[in-house]
Amino acid sequence: MNHQNLLSIAENLVQPPLNQGLVLLSARELGKMRRVGRLAANLLNHLEPMVQPGVSTQALNDEAERWMQAHGAISATLGYAPPSHPPFTGSICTSVNEVVCHGIPNSKQILKDGDIINIDVTPILDGYHGDTSKTFLVGNSSETVRKLVEVTQESMMRGIAEIRPGARIGDIGAAIQEYAEANGFSVVRDMVGHGVGRQFHTEPQIPHYGKRGSGLKLRPGMVFTVEPMLNAGTSDLKFLADRWTVITKDKKLSAQFEHTVAVTEQGVEILTLA
Ligand code: MF3
Ligand code: CO
Ligand code: CO
Repeated sequence: MNHQNLLSIAENLVQPPLNQGLVLLSARELGKMRRVGRLAANLLNHLEPMVQPGVSTQALNDEAERWMQAHGAISATLGYAPPSHPPFTGSICTSVNEVVCHGIPNSKQILKDGDIINIDVTPILDGYHGDTSKTFLVGNSSETVRKLVEVTQESMMRGIAEIRPGARIGDIGAAIQEYAEANGFSVVRDMVGHGVGRQFHTEPQIPHYGKRGSGLKLRPGMVFTVEPMLNAGTSDLKFLADRWTVITKDKKLSAQFEHTVAVTEQGVEILTLA
């Protein structure tokens, strides 16, 4: 993708702006990213058994906050305040059903049988960010809901499988989009993956749609997220008055998975594995 395309994506961005140029991480920094990545994945595993009908999203948040503190980490989301956003009040994001991303934990929001919830965690450990999320089924879900969640996870893995030195950013999005659309789902365009490391959101942007062979060439040392959001209906979004919560315009379901990955000489390493 050329510079002009990147600029037009930036103009359409509805998520926090990327605040630094492209960063290549050293071997020593990659070691730190591995540690915080594993911590982030372990946190999701720790929260998973709590995801049951009757639990509030605030209870999930509070346990996540306690657990991060107990492991010497702090939340990157708590108090996060990019330009034109109020400070985020959650230690994690909890996005239920039609909420696409950036849902704010709330003691009055109680999970019920058949819901889906994306839990997105970003601990900071020793100055480095690990960013990962999963969508969980609450209780018993219908076949169509399960399919949305499974296809979203598989689309992320197919995007990641494209990553190697010399491949292009467009290859990642193309693989995700092809699989999502072949299964009847739409890909969110206005929210993209991002470079991550010492800072939460940096270049490059990683769209979850695109054309093979287009965009920036991948190089060893690049570290970024792949975090597709797939919708059961259209890809159109709406913001709630809190200026954070993103929902589908048609109120149909949305699912998301996210890994932080590193481009290596050999190919790709997923950093957010338990
Ligand atoms: N973790 C989200 C991402 O994947 C960003 C959350 S920012 C918040 O990039 F303020 F909403 F928490
Ligand atoms: Co995230
Ligand atoms: Co992210």
